[in-house]
Amino acid sequence: MEDLKDDVVSMPRIGDKAPAFTAVTTQGEIHFPNDYSGEWVILFSHPADFTPVCTSEFITFASMDAKFAEAGCKLVGLSVDGLYSHIAWLRTIKEKIEYRGMKDVEVNFPLIEDISMNVAKKYGMIQPGEDTTKAVRAVFFIDPKGIIRTIIYYPLSLGRNFDELYRVLVALKTADEFGIATPADWRPGDDVIISPAGSCGTAKDRMEGKEDMECQDWFFCTRKIDKDEVLKKVIKK
Ligand code: BEZ
Repeated sequence: MEDLKDDVVSMPRIGDKAPAFTAVTTQGEIHFPNDYSGEWVILFSHPADFTPVCTSEFITFASMDAKFAEAGCKLVGLSVDGLYSHIAWLRTIKEKIEYRGMKDVEVNFPLIEDISMNVAKKYGMIQPGEDTTKAVRAVFFIDPKGIIRTIIYYPLSLGRNFDELYRVLVALKTADEFGIATPADWRPGDDVIISPAGSCGTAKDRMEGKEDMECQDWFFCTRKIDKDEVLKKVIKK
């Protein structure tokens, strides 16, 4: 336990280059993050195959695979189980399990085998206070340049909200595309924030000629971005 604690103290941070690794997956070998260069990728971990919360998560995520792909994002899963366990679990999910009306779900994104825990340790997915032998539910959003842009961790007992993960992806891409920030609970069509850390003067300079900008005070300026513009530029709809 002490050894493991020492092993995992270094965790990747937002803004870091995603740690590189080569791994065996249910879709063949991958070289991460290089294989995903030029596109967004979400690397996520789950505690164990053949467990109920993870099963509900995989059915949900796999059902949204096409939606994430449309938004220019690939999915890559990981647990510290072996390849044959992964294959058997995913086959069982497809053949037997229904969750919230989703059934016959095929998981087509790669699921990494990580019996050695090498990848899980690199990404701070083993958090000994929670469990020394299972990965927590970690989610890393990695941009087309291989930079970690958002990290979310959940404990073993808490299934993730995949609508929120999709919202995070769209918000990150919108911030990059339009040079803005997104306020609490933002969704496409809502107003965006112009200058997160600057002054209204800065915001005004940047938004020269944009009549739809509104400043309530020097630190709180918003503007409208049409929902269709976001959908077209960010989700390619
Ligand atoms: C689950 O996915 O159901 C689960 C996995 C590990 C610990 C607790 C729950």
